[in-house]
Amino acid sequence: MALNIAIDGPAGAGKSTIAKLLSKKLGIVYVDTGAMYRTIALYLLEKKADLEDEASVESMLGDININITHNEDGMHIFLNDRDVTAMIRDEAVGNAASKTSAYACVRQKLLSLQRDIAAECDCVMDGRDIGSFILPDAQVKIYLTASVQARTQRRYDELKGKGEDPVWDEIMSGISQRDEQDMNRKISPLVQAEDAVYLDSSDMDIGQVVDRIIEISTQKGALTR
Ligand code: DC
Repeated sequence: MALNIAIDGPAGAGKSTIAKLLSKKLGIVYVDTGAMYRTIALYLLEKKADLEDEASVESMLGDININITHNEDGMHIFLNDRDVTAMIRDEAVGNAASKTSAYACVRQKLLSLQRDIAAECDCVMDGRDIGSFILPDAQVKIYLTASVQARTQRRYDELKGKGEDPVWDEIMSGISQRDEQDMNRKISPLVQAEDAVYLDSSDMDIGQVVDRIIEISTQKGALTR
């Protein structure tokens, strides 16, 4: 069986930064499942789909072909052969993804893609329902979170660093709204899997979190190969 490390948690907890670094350190693949939901959302936005209309969203899913590749700079994601890795980082795409990821048809479309990759490759996979639903047998499951305050601060600093002029309250309400949507949807809501280790990174830096996950993985005997 391939080595699977599942990292779930709310938006802005640092999952992707941590998962990327961790996968590099372990020499295994990083799979960003949020990017898959974002890619579907990008397609729907481009086609001006009514995101509130589940039936119309479902009718368009057959036209979406998602492919993943990995190279030195990480995972690349392709929407019908177009590299959309950078485009999907847009805030509007994230918000649309949060909305459309609540639909069963959207989650169903990505289920086998995610399970197939995990079956074939040693990987760190991050998302919302990886430990609780997609990979119930993952050797290591981490529930990574941080206070809303800490997550707002990180996002604020990130945008400042990009030369933007962020508004604290807007970021904070965006994060709270995303939590609300992701945690309270009917299908596959964000929950901590029973056997996941809870990690609050509010007062930890990236290196400390990565080291802690390596420690947990070692304790679980997942890195002994
Ligand atoms: O992690 P992210 O911000 O890139 O994810 C975008 C949205 O996709 C997020 O608000 C919820 C959804 N998502 C999900 O429902 N399940 C996952 N495994 C990953 C993301």
